[in-house]
Amino acid sequence: MSRFKVTKAVIPVAGLGTRFLPATKAMPKEMLPLIDKPVIQYVVEEAVAAGLEDVLMVTGRNKNALENHFDRVAELEMNLEQKGDTDRLQKVMASTELANIHYVRQGDPRGLGHAVLRAKHHIADHSFALLLGDDVMDARDVLLTKMLALHESTGENIVALMEVDPDQIHLYGCVVTEGEVVDGVVRVTGLIEKPKKEEAPSNLAVIGRYVLRPEIFDILEEVKPGRGNEIQLTDALMIAAQNRDRAGGVLGVVFDGRRYDTGDKLDFIKATLRLGVDREDIGQDLRDWLKDFNKEI
Ligand code: G1P
Repeated sequence: MSRFKVTKAVIPVAGLGTRFLPATKAMPKEMLPLIDKPVIQYVVEEAVAAGLEDVLMVTGRNKNALENHFDRVAELEMNLEQKGDTDRLQKVMASTELANIHYVRQGDPRGLGHAVLRAKHHIADHSFALLLGDDVMDARDVLLTKMLALHESTGENIVALMEVDPDQIHLYGCVVTEGEVVDGVVRVTGLIEKPKKEEAPSNLAVIGRYVLRPEIFDILEEVKPGRGNEIQLTDALMIAAQNRDRAGGVLGVVFDGRRYDTGDKLDFIKATLRLGVDREDIGQDLRDWLKDFNKEI
């Protein structure tokens, strides 16, 4: 097995979900449903589809609902079985059988870098994929598989990049690149967390998929709190980008597929509609309704 073959995924899900209050007062934002599946299930399905069946979730106060979702619910299963409702039974079982899921608590919420550091023990000295729990990539568009293959062949840290409107760059980690984008891949030489529009070195934003070498843990242990007084993964990646001998460099895979930032209200609604119109069960009715609705507004 290649040294850079990845088998584990880490998904931080400890955020407070303040943008969705009060819906997220007693429920983690990752449990909000896109149609009939919670956001987190799409993210785990993406990891599994890319061959990563060992998933570590870094949780916060919201651990219970997430754990329950990926666990068995004997009463419900029995009820559906007795009714002979195999279709729903299959849906209920799907999340249970999906992956090998492990949990670790973040403790103090001290930033994304801190959450990633909590995975150190589970990951040990292997490379791993990091998927942010808010970001849903449309399963019809390829990203993670390409990032994993690039990591395996180069041994570099890989970040997913997306061109954004300059007015939006302050919401993301932003990269400095060198040379041309070739086959959707570009060398990253610098990263800055959530820069002001005027200070942004590019309009290429880091989106929530990474493939990282284990050396990133040592760097995260060293980095000082950055933006927002939090331990920033972006700052650790900056060090990796500038010290290729120490931790491998950083390459970016530019994604031009469909990404839904489910932490954002408007994007959440768009995601529901985008996925809804292509559904076999409700797609046609939703399309018809949207056409009528369009005349009304
Ligand atoms: C985090 C990262 C940021 C990245 C973003 C992608 O920010 O810190 O670099 O661009 O995820 O979604 P957050 O969205 O958690 O504030």
